[in-house]
Amino acid sequence: MENPPNIAFIHKVAADLTGRTTVQGRTHSFRCLKEGDEVHFWYLGRGKRRYNKIDQVVIHSDHSSVQCQYFGICGGCSGQHIPYEEQFSIKTNLLAENYKDNWEIKPELIPASTPYHYRNRMDFAIFPGKSGLRESGNFRKLVDVETCLIQSKWADTEWNLIRSYIIAHPEIPLNRKSEEGFLKYVTIRYSFSTEDSMVIFTIDKALEGCDGEKELEAWLLEHSTAKNIIFCYNPRPSEVSAFGSFKVVKGNSSYEEKILDQTLQVPFDSFFQPNPRQFEPILHEIQKWIQEWQPENLIDLFCGGGFFSILFGKYFEKIYGYEVNKASIATATEIVSSLYADKESSFESIDLFQKKFIPKFIESFESRNLDPSKTFLILDPPRNGAGSFMLDWIENSNIKYIAYVSCNPKGQYDEIMKSIGKSYTPVRVLMTDPYPHTPHLESLVILEKKKVVVDFKF
Ligand SMILES: C[S@@+](CC[C@H](N)C(=O)[O-])C[C@H]1O[C@@H](n2cnc3c(N)ncnc32)[C@H](O)[C@@H]1O
Repeated sequence: MENPPNIAFIHKVAADLTGRTTVQGRTHSFRCLKEGDEVHFWYLGRGKRRYNKIDQVVIHSDHSSVQCQYFGICGGCSGQHIPYEEQFSIKTNLLAENYKDNWEIKPELIPASTPYHYRNRMDFAIFPGKSGLRESGNFRKLVDVETCLIQSKWADTEWNLIRSYIIAHPEIPLNRKSEEGFLKYVTIRYSFSTEDSMVIFTIDKALEGCDGEKELEAWLLEHSTAKNIIFCYNPRPSEVSAFGSFKVVKGNSSYEEKILDQTLQVPFDSFFQPNPRQFEPILHEIQKWIQEWQPENLIDLFCGGGFFSILFGKYFEKIYGYEVNKASIATATEIVSSLYADKESSFESIDLFQKKFIPKFIESFESRNLDPSKTFLILDPPRNGAGSFMLDWIENSNIKYIAYVSCNPKGQYDEIMKSIGKSYTPVRVLMTDPYPHTPHLESLVILEKKKVVVDFKF
């Protein structure tokens, strides 16, 4: 007979938007539940891992604010059951309190102006009989998605058109087990500022140029409304979308985005802020501090394709970027050196998380002979943070000004608390929400080097 369930009520929603309950001293998180919801659950793990796996039945939950039919199953959104304004407070409240308590700073909090139809890019996986987004907690399973409310309306219409063609041609999707079919992903990119659009089809490299691909190409040229269409090829078992050797079927291999009044060409395989409109407050703030402090040198750490160097390069005499990805370094070098041909600029590919490469970074930095009091550091690491070596280096550096941008504000706060904050003072904090209905946020902390107080004792 099945064991009786544990019965619990959700007592709060945490900053990651999961509902929390505590049973016999153990706290559990449940996705898509809110305060007051009743949940019945069983522990499924064995031995030491007994409590790690949970099966649940939700007895009562008010989902009246949910607009998407796939909510709860799809791995994308996890907060639609909470009205947007409330979601934003839950995501930001605790951190805002922490900044106030520790540094007497009141962060500026900027909620999303458009909580739906905001993403400029979606990647749909293509499986036999299903095309759409990954199921929550299960990378191998797909939710067959007809419409996605967080992408643009144009992308929704285009996706429907392409999806109907795939449904009518069951031989197209790559079967990851039998290796029949050829199509792995469809990526749709759309710029809200320029209305430029692109669709990228990720195809199994072994089947490059097959008859199915030729038929798809002919059909797209007749029916698709995308301004740019790319076929790109990567070998099995790669599950990376929009990556590999490529062919331009229509238009160009890049599309146009506009941000801070600058028009940028985004290569089909490059990262770009998923919601540039909502990221702009961070850019305006960085620009304001650069104009106020007037530093001469820019260090762009974790620079990607040179996004910040491109936007702010005009304010500096010398621009240096560091980043692991060689293709991004090539893009940054090409764009920055042509945009700012009169300035000194250089971008280097270095793995900033590996101890053995840190001397290479320090040597490169020191060879620049920069005056630290005139140097501005933009730090924009990946979600897992700047890493212990970079944190140590920053903490002990004499660089005067730092703009620390992060898509993981909690991790950023922890790094400032335990390391950077020892020698820098946060002077401004801004949090904005480019990712409504998800637990994510973007935040900016402006830090200034502490003055060394010399204690003369006679
Ligand atoms: C949040 S993105 C920032 C990119 C860029 N600043 C932008 O706005 O487009 C973080 C960057 O860190 C880079 N990165 C990840 N691991 C790294 C490592 N070990 N060493 C150096 N850079 C790394 C990624 O390639 C990525 O470009």
